[in-house]
Amino acid sequence: MAILSIRIIGDPVLRTVADPVTDFGPELAKLVADMTETMEDVDGAGLAAPQVGVSQRVFTYRIGGVEGHIINPVLENSEDFQPDEVEGCLSIPGLGFPVRRFQATKATGVDLNGNPVSVEAEGMLARCFQHETDHLDGVLYTDRLEGDDRKAALRAIRNANYHDITEQTTSKRAHSVGSSFGGGSFGVPE
Ligand code: NI
Repeated sequence: MAILSIRIIGDPVLRTVADPVTDFGPELAKLVADMTETMEDVDGAGLAAPQVGVSQRVFTYRIGGVEGHIINPVLENSEDFQPDEVEGCLSIPGLGFPVRRFQATKATGVDLNGNPVSVEAEGMLARCFQHETDHLDGVLYTDRLEGDDRKAALRAIRNANYHDITEQTTSKRAHSVGSSFGGGSFGVPE
């Protein structure tokens, strides 16, 4: 397994709609294993394949001791919303804003062997699934902000020197993300 480097906002792969996975071979198994290891290394709550430069519909998650992956996920969201919680993103280091998300969701997809999976999620896990599935559609959580939060986020992204951050090692960056978000997340502060 290997720790993968995480792509930072500004990288076009984060703005590309990812392709459905069609090849369930050893390369996919390695991708899922490497993404899981990378997510653990940065103490993240979730990671989507485009964040490691792979434009395929795969994400891993790790919430409340529950870890897994879903390939080609489709979400069925509840109609009601959960209370806004601050989200961050490993691809937008050092930033966090409250985001509106559906209270519950049912994620349906397949595992790395192509077997069907279906996970019903509420609260933080539902939030994670929505955040990670957005990544597969080229959407970042900052796109979902409105009003002053949106302005503040765009200003912070403009002012941040993400070019320099990209040149740091993954572990150094993980350290700063961890301190920003109390060890969380995709990242949600804990
Ligand atoms: Ni993210």
